[in-house]
Amino acid sequence: MQTLQFSRVVAGVVPLVVMFVFVAACGATLQAADAAAVFKARCSGCHGPEGNANTPAAKNQGLKDLKSPDVQKKSDAELHQIIAKGSKKMPGFEKSLGADGVKDQVAYMRQLAKKK
Ligand code: HEC
Repeated sequence: MQTLQFSRVVAGVVPLVVMFVFVAACGATLQAADAAAVFKARCSGCHGPEGNANTPAAKNQGLKDLKSPDVQKKSDAELHQIIAKGSKKMPGFEKSLGADGVKDQVAYMRQLAKKK
């Protein structure tokens, strides 16, 4: 009797957990894809498509490779500040992206550094 109840609970819970993990995983990849799309649309014009500053526009502005240790050693808070408020010739993106959008870009900066 007890085992029957137990397996009923398991049968009820397992699909829920599986569904939840699936939805969460989709959400995470969607968010990452979004951040990449935003970077491409809003940032790559200056920073280069991979953020590696190897475009003429980036070179003109003396930009650093966003993957470089120089940039990556900055804290999330510093990167957030730069992206939100801008710095020198870079405009701030707080208004257009919102706080969450800026946060996604900070995460994207870290992600860029990881892919080789
Ligand atoms: C109009 C050109 C321009 C655009 C568009 C732009 N940036 Fe920048 N970005 C700059 C410049 C110029 C600097 C260097 C600022 C400085 O030296 O203080 C910079 C610096 C940075 C830094 C700090 C790196 C460093 O060298 O210390 C980060 C991170 C960054 N940008 C991310 C972004 C992101 C993310 C976007 C898009 C949401 C973006 N930028 C869009 C011009 C731009």
